[in-house]
Amino acid sequence: MGNTKKLNEISWQDFNALSLVEKGIYFQGPPAHTLIAQQFSRKQLEELCTLATKIKRISKRREGARFLKTLLSDKRAMLYFAQPSSRTYLSHNAACQILGLDTMDVRDSKTSSEVKGESPEDTIRTFSSYADMIIMRHPVGGFAERVAWMLSNTNRVIPVLNAGSGADQHPTQALLDIYTLERSFEESGGIDGKNIVFVGDLARGRTVRSLAWLLTLYNGVKIYFVAPKSLQIGADVLELLDATGTKYEVTDNFLQVMPQADALYMTRIQDEWDAESESSTIDTSAFSIEAKHMDMLKETAVIMHPLPRRKEISTDIDNDPRAIYWRQMRNGMWIRAALILTTFGRQDEANLYYANYKPE
Ligand code: CP
Repeated sequence: MGNTKKLNEISWQDFNALSLVEKGIYFQGPPAHTLIAQQFSRKQLEELCTLATKIKRISKRREGARFLKTLLSDKRAMLYFAQPSSRTYLSHNAACQILGLDTMDVRDSKTSSEVKGESPEDTIRTFSSYADMIIMRHPVGGFAERVAWMLSNTNRVIPVLNAGSGADQHPTQALLDIYTLERSFEESGGIDGKNIVFVGDLARGRTVRSLAWLLTLYNGVKIYFVAPKSLQIGADVLELLDATGTKYEVTDNFLQVMPQADALYMTRIQDEWDAESESSTIDTSAFSIEAKHMDMLKETAVIMHPLPRRKEISTDIDNDPRAIYWRQMRNGMWIRAALILTTFGRQDEANLYYANYKPE
C-alpha cells in the first residue's frame, strides 16, 4: 500500500472536512489503517481475496495451522467494541487466533474507566499502550477516523481497524461481502457486469454504504436500491455513484427487481438508530424474501445478508443453495485474517509458504 499523505501532517479540522475519497489517501499506511471503504483499490481487494483463500487452505493442515500461528505471534490486538456484535467481534478474534495474535477486549464502555469520566480519546490512548493494533466498533460515526488521527500525533502510532462506526461505515464487512461475491461468481466472470440488489433499511445500513462504494471499482455493475421511501439510500451515496459513473436504480418495487438480481443483499431494520420508535410504523412486509419468491430468482443468483436477520429472510429458504449468508459470515474470518496480516506487512511470508504448499 503506497503512502502518499500522512495523518500527522494535517489538522483534524482540515482532515475532517475532506471528502471520503480524499480521506482514503491518508489511510494507506504505514500503519495501514482500515477505516473507510473509499481507501481501497480493486488491486488491493483482489490481493486480499487471494490471500484469504490461501490462509484458508493453509489452515486446513495441522502443520499449516501451526505455521500461520507464527506469523503474528509477536503482536497483540485490542478489540474495543462499544456496540453489540456477534459476527464482527468473533470473526476478528478468530482471525487473530489463526495468526497467533494475542487479543484483549473491552466489550462495553461501562466496564472501562470511561465511567470515571475518562474521555473516549484517553481511553483509546490507554488501549494503545498495551496493544499493537486496535480493532474497534463505536456508535459515533467517524470516531475510528478521529482515533487514527489522534494516535498519529502520539509516540504510539498503531493501526486502527474500523469494525463498524455509527451508521456510516463498516469497511471490513464490505471486504467480506466482496470476497463472498468473488467466490460466488468465480465461474461466471467475477463481479464485473453483475446486478447487485440491496433491500431493506438502506438509510441507516452501514454495510450497504461501504459495499456500494467497493462495487464502483468493478466494471459494468448495476446497483438496485430497494426500500420503503423513508428508508431509502442517502443522496450522498448516490452522488458517489454518479461521480464514478456507476449505474443504479432506486425503487420500492422488490418483486419487479427480483428477477434481475445476480446477488440479493437483504438487510434488517436498523431500529437501534430510531429517535422515537419511528421504524415500527413503517410497513416492511414487501421487502422480505420467502419460499414463494424463489422461482422468481435466477438459478445462479445468490442471497446474502450481513446478519443478524429478523423477518426479511424466511428460515424456509435457508437450505436453498442460493442462500449463502452463513458462508458469507464465515468468509469474514478469512478475509479479516488476510487484512490483519497485510496490515502488519507480513503477507509475503504466507504467500511464500503457500507457493511450496500442497493443499489437500
Ligand atoms: N454483520 C455484523 O456486523 O454483525 P454483528 O453486528 O453481529 O457483528
